[in-house]
Amino acid sequence: MFEPNSVMVTGGAGFIGSNFVRWLVDNTDVRIVVLDKLTYAGNRGNLTGVPESRVKLVVGDICDDALLDELVPCVDAIVHFAAETHNDNSIADPAPFVSSNIEGTYHLLEACRKYGTRFHHISTDEVYGDLDLDDTTRFTEATPYCPSSPYSSTKAASDLLVRAWHRTYGVATTISNCSNNYGPRQHVEKFIPRQITNVLCGARPKLYGDGSNVRDWIHVDDHSSAVWDVLTKGRLGDTYLIGADGEQRNLDVLRTILTLMGKDSDDFDWVRDRPGHDRRYAIDASKIRTELGWRPRHVDFEEGLAGVIDWYRENESWWMPLKESVEATYSMRGQ
Ligand code: NAD
Ligand code: DAU
Repeated sequence: MFEPNSVMVTGGAGFIGSNFVRWLVDNTDVRIVVLDKLTYAGNRGNLTGVPESRVKLVVGDICDDALLDELVPCVDAIVHFAAETHNDNSIADPAPFVSSNIEGTYHLLEACRKYGTRFHHISTDEVYGDLDLDDTTRFTEATPYCPSSPYSSTKAASDLLVRAWHRTYGVATTISNCSNNYGPRQHVEKFIPRQITNVLCGARPKLYGDGSNVRDWIHVDDHSSAVWDVLTKGRLGDTYLIGADGEQRNLDVLRTILTLMGKDSDDFDWVRDRPGHDRRYAIDASKIRTELGWRPRHVDFEEGLAGVIDWYRENESWWMPLKESVEATYSMRGQ
């Protein structure tokens, strides 16, 4: 069992990173240093209310070696969330994805090698590519890498760097690959928050293609508990898949949102499909369940979604400043 006293959370002002910081504050005693560049996706407000005695925010880039030399020797572990994360953006401009996702991970690994620091890498199920809609198989830790988009290929590259730094230099690493997260504080560019905030603004939700694509949804708090289990109990050098058996067609998710928000379930627009759009993701989480005893707690998707809708309803000041420019970008892309 690895028992860190202090953890650096990169990307801790983003969606999953900030929910993970909150989870750590509520469920552990660790001291937390957040390293976040505050890109368009980072938000200082995501850490509002966390105790300053436990959490320190450092605004900076994971590619900044001098800053890493200052920060990394002072922590027992790094949990690495920082990344460019939106597939549509990676199709429009892949450059920041190569820099933050590949080079950024490289700089952190080098710092861990220099200071003997434990490293947990947060990755995605998208590194495995996609599955056919009529296929019954799911991704496992043994599925070959086959990423489709610029985003997922940079995440795959970063996973391979982590594996190499473990095998070649003996850096103490673990990797987790998780499916689609939902929860509070997710940027309005992403599917679920975009549709909820469209309805709240009186605009029509937008569905790509024919809506048959399947995503495997997990509540962000279940992702956080799984990451903690892998960090503290996982085997060094290993990969763990994280998922909560939450497969849903996009069309069905959208109809559930509309119904929960008191709208007609056909009250949306069909829009241009994403180029290279992955059809289906599905995680077999047997390894983390059997080896680490992890279990998701949010197993009722509709109930979880209702909670997220309430959060966006109650936090208009958080998302409204982002909404206009996101929709202007989508509109230019015909989406
Ligand atoms: P997000 O886009 O909401 O947040 C990313 C954060 O990283 C932002 O706060 C941003 O400012 C920061 N960041 C970006 N580049 C940086 C850099 N160079 N230096 C320092 N900080 C930087 O992302 P998210 O959805 O919370 O995803 C977090 C991680 O989880 C990513 O690694 C992503 O690949 C992975 N992941 C996401 C999902 C999902 O469903 N969202 C699923 C599986 C894995
Ligand atoms: O699977 C994990 C991945 O999940 C993470 O690695 C990514 O960082 C995260 O962004 C997410 O990727 P997706 O591309 O699956 O998420 P997104 O929210 O962009 O889209 C979810 C699905 O909804 C996808 O099939 C595209 C579709 N979609 C999306 C938007 C924004 C729509 O139909 N309409 C939309 O307006």
